[in-house]
Amino acid sequence: MKKIGVIGGSGLYEIKGLRVSKRKKISTPFGRPSDEYVIGRTGDTEVSFLPRHGSRHDIPPHLINYRANIWGFKKLGVQRIISVGAVGGIKKDLKPGTVVILDQIIDMTKARASTFYEGKTAGRRAEVVHIDLTGPYCPEMRKVILRSGQTSKVPLKNGGTYMAVEGPRLETAAEIRAFARLGGSVVGMTGMPEASLARELEICYSGISVVANYAAGITSGKLTTKEVMDGMKASTEKIRRLLEQIFRHVPEKRKCPCKDALKDAKL
Ligand code: HPA
Repeated sequence: MKKIGVIGGSGLYEIKGLRVSKRKKISTPFGRPSDEYVIGRTGDTEVSFLPRHGSRHDIPPHLINYRANIWGFKKLGVQRIISVGAVGGIKKDLKPGTVVILDQIIDMTKARASTFYEGKTAGRRAEVVHIDLTGPYCPEMRKVILRSGQTSKVPLKNGGTYMAVEGPRLETAAEIRAFARLGGSVVGMTGMPEASLARELEICYSGISVVANYAAGITSGKLTTKEVMDGMKASTEKIRRLLEQIFRHVPEKRKCPCKDALKDAKL
């Protein structure tokens, strides 16, 4: 059976229509995930859902235990993760409400535990691993998502670069101008290290980014958390429809490079 994991971001705390069969609390060598995993079936697919910020949204981006979250999916046998997240639009054409299927990431985070291979630390194995992250999102899953956009009639923007920031504060206008010059399309607080951690465990990682607001300074005025949350909530029905089609279209067998990510990555 296909096993797909979904990480829900701000405003997405459940998958409506999923027939839930169990809820699993998982412990990992890295501590506890954000919440219990909600597991259900849809067609020939088992879906495990995890709300990234916890079901009561009380875990801010800089305190999320990213390693535990991804490890938990591995423990459940999940082979592909779809990460749903709210982002701020840096490019003018990425208006609030736009759904973007990104293809690149620039990581500006600096204070997060971002690898399972820490080197020689107490009680851990001293493996040295340099994972390839040339294309941070699974190419096969990107194709599936884009096709699902057509069949669900949810318009998708194909491609773009995610600027991952530490948060929890929003950005300055100058930061956003600099990110635009670096080639950033959108900005968000959680896309890294999720992508690289998944790759380290040979799990496919893909993203559905919902532009909740224009990033700081793109339009005049102050940014509010309410604006971000409202922007995301307005898109939840679209995302549900899109996910439904994705679950259907994901092929049984993986043919992407993600499944062999550790080959040639170890010293
Ligand atoms: N900046 C950073 N993260 C975000 C934003 C933003 O403007 N909107 C949603 N997540």
